[in-house]
Amino acid sequence: KDALDYLANKAGKRYLGTAIQSYQLVNNPQYVQILESQFDAITPENEMKWEVVEPTEGNFDFSGTDKIVAEAKKTGSIVRGHNICWDSQTPAWVTSITDPKRLKEVLKNHIDAVIGRYKDDLAYFDIVNEPLNENGTYKSNVWYNVLGESYIETALRYAHEVAPNMKLCINDYNIETVNAKSKAMAVLSAKLLAKNAPLHCIGFESHFIGGSTPKDIPASMRQFSDLGLEVPMTELDVRIPVTANDQPANATVAKAQVDDYYTSISACLGNDMCPGVSIWQFADPTSWIPGVFKGYGAALLYDAEYQPKSTYYVVQQALRDG
Ligand code: G3I
Repeated sequence: KDALDYLANKAGKRYLGTAIQSYQLVNNPQYVQILESQFDAITPENEMKWEVVEPTEGNFDFSGTDKIVAEAKKTGSIVRGHNICWDSQTPAWVTSITDPKRLKEVLKNHIDAVIGRYKDDLAYFDIVNEPLNENGTYKSNVWYNVLGESYIETALRYAHEVAPNMKLCINDYNIETVNAKSKAMAVLSAKLLAKNAPLHCIGFESHFIGGSTPKDIPASMRQFSDLGLEVPMTELDVRIPVTANDQPANATVAKAQVDDYYTSISACLGNDMCPGVSIWQFADPTSWIPGVFKGYGAALLYDAEYQPKSTYYVVQQALRDG
């Protein structure tokens, strides 16, 4: 009765999810035990990205995602698909295409294969990932450069054709506050909805820094929920400065981190259109943070021994209070 997914469900039928990598299902029983006992939503951290699923044209590798979907079915968890159109982890055979007609064909084939295979297995899918720059303009990537802004609508429509029941999201970071980027995302969302495009959700990635987590997450969420869109938190983690062995650098940052987890979970619970929160992995040794932000880490809920940390207990508390 203390499990995070149980408490999230009690706090208004939300899910409490996590990103995982499929190899951990095979060789890490402690990891699987926590996954199965605490979480009821799974996002493949890398397994569904284009370079993994279709590394060369027409050659699909579903082995990682198949394992994740089987695990989810075993425990009745939902799966969030991630992702189709992105500027990263997309193979050169795709990013080198310059002909719009050919790029659309390649996109359609990929969506038919990937989303078609899992059309009854995935509840949500981040179809378009990180499309905007900080100033709200479109990010340069093969999709925008070759197809223009219509690539977003095109990808959503292709996906909806194959999986009419799947909820389709645009997912991005730094939209958790009311700023140029989130305002541009709201304009884009309204435009898509006005064209009846199948857009159902805006994913708030929520990669935060202890002490700098936005105070106005609720206001930013309302920019989208007022349009009728769901606002899942999709990749929550709160990084802090750490010592050489991945411990909080001092008590101040540790306290800020705990407060920020509370604020983040409460923001979701405060909006009826937030279906749940997914954290981006749950144990510190498997987090992407230390590899990318030198000197930062300890961003998740469990330590290197897979013991729950104060961050775990504050998430529990926020769910109970919610
Ligand atoms: O699989 C290869 C392995 O074969 C190779 O030996 C090794 C050597 O570097 O690399 C492995 O690939 C790595 C991959 O993760 C799988 O572990 C890549 O180098 C590494 O860059 C990749 O990082 C992922 C990152 O996306 C890529 O942009 C992170 O795990 C993943 O957490 C991160 O997730 C993103 C979300 O998709 C979108 N939002 C931001 C978030 C954090 O960056």
